[in-house]
Amino acid sequence: MTHKAAIIGGGVIGGGWAARFLLNGWDVAVFDPHPEARRKIDEVLAGARRALPALYDRALPPEGALSFHDTLADAVAGADWVQESVPERLDLKHRVLAEIDAAAPDHAVIGSSTSGFKPSDLAAQGARVIVAHPFNPVYLLPLVELAGEAESCARADTLLRGIGMRPLTLRREIDAHIADRLLEAVWRECLWLLTDGIATTEEIDDAIRMGFGLRWAQMGIFETYRIAGGEAGMRHFMEQFGPALEWPWTKLMDVPEFTPELVDLIAGQSDAQSGHMSIRELERLRDDNLVGILRALRKTGAGAGGVIAEHERSLGQAEGIPQAALVETVRRAVPQTWADYNGHMNEAHYLEIGAQATDRFMEMIGAGPDYIAAGKSYFTVENHLCYHDEVKVGETLVVTTQVVAGAGKKMHLFHRICRGEVVAATMETLLLHVDLTTRRACPPEAGVERTLTQYAEAHAGLDAPVELARHVGAKR
Ligand SMILES: NC(=O)c1ccc[n+]([C@@H]2O[C@H](COP(=O)([O-])OP(=O)(O)OC[C@H]3O[C@@H](n4cnc5c(N)ncnc54)[C@H](O)[C@@H]3O)[C@@H](O)[C@H]2O)c1
Repeated sequence: MTHKAAIIGGGVIGGGWAARFLLNGWDVAVFDPHPEARRKIDEVLAGARRALPALYDRALPPEGALSFHDTLADAVAGADWVQESVPERLDLKHRVLAEIDAAAPDHAVIGSSTSGFKPSDLAAQGARVIVAHPFNPVYLLPLVELAGEAESCARADTLLRGIGMRPLTLRREIDAHIADRLLEAVWRECLWLLTDGIATTEEIDDAIRMGFGLRWAQMGIFETYRIAGGEAGMRHFMEQFGPALEWPWTKLMDVPEFTPELVDLIAGQSDAQSGHMSIRELERLRDDNLVGILRALRKTGAGAGGVIAEHERSLGQAEGIPQAALVETVRRAVPQTWADYNGHMNEAHYLEIGAQATDRFMEMIGAGPDYIAAGKSYFTVENHLCYHDEVKVGETLVVTTQVVAGAGKKMHLFHRICRGEVVAATMETLLLHVDLTTRRACPPEAGVERTLTQYAEAHAGLDAPVELARHVGAKR
């Protein structure tokens, strides 16, 4: 049976909730008196449809039905979940929650997105409500902080897991819950750094995104510090840095006393959290995660990824000289993100490295990014991969490229993907030169054609690779 969610207040957060529920197969009914509410939700939904399914390798459930209502009572009728996301004003929340409580089915979970109010603040006038505090964008970030009546929080926990979220139920209510309390502490220090003229907004952002922000993203603070303690672990870390609590490192000087009991408490909880892995194992996990995150950032050029992209551009590329010897087009390590469940390079990445070799070869003949930006390029029309040997994460692969034929619109290349002396795979690829405006094949510019011809002539004397004659399943 399809679940139904009612979204009361469809701004930034309500829109994100609507998208999260809809894309997970729930029907969603929205009430927001703002004349632009429908347009704003449609825009959030368009973003969510682009992003959320990209996280998964399986299809999400069929989208639920979205409806807009003129009254709050209409929207919440028959709902299993009602999410209040109106502006952060207690009087307004009280009024809206009273209306929701009166109209919502008995079994419905009533959650409030409030960033800072405690459930007891929200329920001060008797409304049934729990805090269900999400993070923007709600359709992508899993965390929801739950606080309030235990049985409702338990039901909320189950339902939220069903839509791919990670509920965190507070042991007791506090202003701003856990995450906003942390964020607020950092924010206050940022404002001091700014007003004291110590750093600019950009420098503060760099201090986060170029360094510890990346560690926090995958291990939080305690697991990260456990590693920082080295083999001696958490206890050692605290002994080293504990005394700093009393030094003027922050403006926030109301700190807990650094007692042996506090050290025991943290060391014990850290053991329970991370003790199943050695420090070396944690380091490897951290590094693999960082490689994955940094590679994603490199693609967009954002944050620390921009630094890597820039550094990469400064790394020398093999000079391609037209001669009988094959040209080296790629030399690279196999990243962890290319591994399959066996720790070996997954078959798709043999194609990826072959495509990198083609890109590099195009650069060598003058058909690199500038040529493409000016409106011409080569498009791949056919590939043939032969897998000869397995490759492990961390190994270095070198690709050499042979021009089988290069004349007119056609470019026919043969890449050998080598691990040391071993040819781990080969890739034969046929490309056609195209005009990017008409999307039709056309001859290359004279300079590109000339260089390609030089390579083709230089390689003409080489033996034809045996793989060229193969079809799938042909005897070796
Ligand atoms: N923005 C964030 O990053 C963030 C993150 C987590 C939680 N929150 C919390 O979510 C809640 C909403 O914040 P937001 O950023 O989406 O605000 P917003 O201003 O973008 O959206 C609020 C929406 O509520 C609508 N609204 C106003 N009165 C209403 C009423 N009586 N009935 C129905 N709808 C009404 C408005 O038209 C508006 O579309 C707040 O409690 C906020 O603390 C915000």
